[in-house]
Amino acid sequence: MQVIAGTASTALAERISRELGNIPFGMPFTKRFPDGELYVRIGGQLQGDDVVLVQSTRNDQDILELLMLEDAVRQSGARRLIVVVPYFGYARQDRVFFPGEPVTAKALAQHIALQADAVVSVDLHSVETLHAFTKPAYEASGIPALARLLRQRPVDLLVSPDKGGTDRARRMGQLLDRPWMALEKRRIDSEHVELELPSSVPVGLEDKHVVIVDDVISTGGTIVGAARLLAKGRVGAITAACTHGLFLRDAFERIKAVTDEIYSTDTLSNPAEKASVAPDIAQIVKRYLAELPAA
Ligand code: R5P
Repeated sequence: MQVIAGTASTALAERISRELGNIPFGMPFTKRFPDGELYVRIGGQLQGDDVVLVQSTRNDQDILELLMLEDAVRQSGARRLIVVVPYFGYARQDRVFFPGEPVTAKALAQHIALQADAVVSVDLHSVETLHAFTKPAYEASGIPALARLLRQRPVDLLVSPDKGGTDRARRMGQLLDRPWMALEKRRIDSEHVELELPSSVPVGLEDKHVVIVDDVISTGGTIVGAARLLAKGRVGAITAACTHGLFLRDAFERIKAVTDEIYSTDTLSNPAEKASVAPDIAQIVKRYLAELPAA
């Protein structure tokens, strides 16, 4: 078995190769033709081998590179191809909101699945996307990775910035044996939200270390709003923790100004990627391969 890294996920791919038992790890050669077209080439022998290909799809370029690498792996005669998409971009368009639109998440999932035997992703925007892959598809959670990191810190309360993230805060609370709550969130526009404390708060906030847990930090509006609200309760320290840290524009600096720590997992490269989902992804890959009927 070997791991091949797309350019969007090099560091995580190497960590996954270590978690899978220091198996060979390769970085394909990439270049641009004079007209701007992308060229990729994977080295080494793949004939009859199982390949784990790792590439987040944050933008169009990442998507194209992933599809090209999948084909290159197949052309090289690999036996099985497990595609790991740590951050699955374009996931928000998971339904037709206005007539004439595509269901982009489904279309992308179907294309990724075409050449794959199985697909693994992390904290997808919606469960429908997992079902849109036409091959066995698995979802890891970023919460255990963040909990492994936070276990080394004194944490008093886990907070989800909205009701939709209740399960994440609850799960983190269970892993750290700490109380949790979900805020009431109302989105004003793409960068601004209004937040309120729930009617019942499980512990007094004063002097407590509160961790705000979210799946994605994008513009940072949600975390900044949550941190400002919690600061009014005179909390002692605030940590922002997320699975996917996009940190658009000045989001990282704006969050840094209102929190004490920022943690994200390594599904995307960013200055806060301190928790790795590599063990969780490797575990899914191992389980998938172990459950296959003997060849
Ligand atoms: C929303 O439902 C998500 O869980 C995140 O809270 C949201 O995507 C974060 O976006 P932003 O950082 O732009 O507020």
